[in-house]
Amino acid sequence: MDQHNIGAHSAKPAQVAGGAASRVHMTIPNPTVPSSPAPATRAVAPVLDVRHVEKVYGARNNVTRALADVSFTVMRGEFVGIMGASGSGKSTLLNCISTIDAVTSGNVYIDGADVTAMKPAKLTRFRREQLGFIFQDSNLLDTLTARENIALPLTISRVPASEALVRVEDVAARLSISGVLDKYPYQMSGGQQQRVAAARALVTNPAIIMADEPTGALDSKNARLLLECFETMNRDYQATVLMVTHDSFAASYTQRVLFIRDGRIFTELRRGTSSRQDFFNRIMEVVAMMGGEGSDAL
Ligand SMILES: Nc1ncnc2c1ncn2[C@@H]1O[C@H](COP(=O)(O)OP(=O)(O)OP(=O)(O)O)[C@@H](O)[C@H]1O
Ligand SMILES: [Mg+2]
Repeated sequence: MDQHNIGAHSAKPAQVAGGAASRVHMTIPNPTVPSSPAPATRAVAPVLDVRHVEKVYGARNNVTRALADVSFTVMRGEFVGIMGASGSGKSTLLNCISTIDAVTSGNVYIDGADVTAMKPAKLTRFRREQLGFIFQDSNLLDTLTARENIALPLTISRVPASEALVRVEDVAARLSISGVLDKYPYQMSGGQQQRVAAARALVTNPAIIMADEPTGALDSKNARLLLECFETMNRDYQATVLMVTHDSFAASYTQRVLFIRDGRIFTELRRGTSSRQDFFNRIMEVVAMMGGEGSDAL
């Protein structure tokens, strides 16, 4: 396995923000190893442990149970897809994990820390240092170049400029966006903007990268390019990626897909050693079983 990591070219990799540096040279556990209730070392502990999460919106006679008793774990270095019909609770789940939304009950552990119990001040820092986000729209800052957008989270975390520069160049080269680094968002295509957003999420070496319908606004060629970026992030940087999608093709790039129905995990599929085409076919079978409309959309 390629052990290359963010910061590996840097003279001072130890200055990675927060606890990220400790992850830089960790070996990746086999994603198929089940989580142990009392892991002996951090290396075999899940990076994400969602336990009995429930999310209820509203009150009295206007209640929506968006999530009901959702539990699962994700090991470090996994690329996991989350699929389900519109309104099934995918974004709610991602928002509860990413601390954007508060759970009604249950716990979410990220790298062993219970984010549902964190105080707001600590949460802000935790989010900045441990989580990466990619949304349907890139959310790049219009007044900054791609290079500056990617470097921004490092700048905020006070990573020295010389090191930030090296890391941005390194990630950009890996994700094949070196050619747009000096462009502003309005000078880039939608696909290029999304790849820059992916680089921005990756550059801090977060514990988890979360993406909500990242290919939703892209044509098929750019969707494919972004998914290949995710594969690279996963393979070359051992990034842990959680991606919500309604698209079976996008999901076929992951190693495991969790299917959500009515706020509950309905089933999960693991790719194992099968080809992407075979995994795609199996995903489509589950989509059909869950009541898909014969298309790739749930
Ligand atoms: N802020 C909110 N207040 C009240 N209800 C909400 C809120 N956010 C989401 N819901 C409800 O929770 C349920 C799950 O919504 P969620 O956005 O998680 O679905 P989703 O699976 O992401 O759907 P989509 O594929 O359309 O994005 C829906 O019934 C939705 O109406
Ligand atoms: Mg959603």
